[in-house]
Amino acid sequence: MKNEIRFSLNGKEETLPGDPRRRLIDVLREDFGLTSIKEGCGEGECGACSILVDGRVIDSCILPAGAVEDRTVETLESIRETERGEKIVQALTRGGGVQCGFCIPGMAVSIESLLRTNPRPDEHAIREGISGNLCRCTGYQQIVEGVAAIEHVEGDNS
Ligand code: FES
Ligand code: FES
Repeated sequence: MKNEIRFSLNGKEETLPGDPRRRLIDVLREDFGLTSIKEGCGEGECGACSILVDGRVIDSCILPAGAVEDRTVETLESIRETERGEKIVQALTRGGGVQCGFCIPGMAVSIESLLRTNPRPDEHAIREGISGNLCRCTGYQQIVEGVAAIEHVEGDNS
């Protein structure tokens, strides 16, 4: 087993602490304090633990930490430092779009991924974009409307 596994985390080069067979969600939450990542099902079904790996939405509860070697990992902590990321969070939290809020971080990560490739998604694209994120409190409609109302952020499409 390799001793040192390097990866990029929220824009910083990091070395993976501990056993690379640990779940990525545990490493990110416990060792890096990235508590935006939530654990719901723990089985890759609910999307509460969504993060971006090389820009793609991944369920961190089913990924061994060592799988991110030489990859780029982003969590909501860095995403919401951008103008678009903050707009996404606001769109999800205002207007009663969500209730308990547990699903918001994972949902926001998926929407960020969607808007990077499709800055002005229609309702169908939004529903598809969040199809891996379960919300047990709402009927999704207000979430979809909130996302559809996000203004396109020019030049923030990385
Ligand atoms: S906690 Fe990872 S998909 Fe549900
Ligand atoms: S608002 Fe409660 S799970 Fe979505």
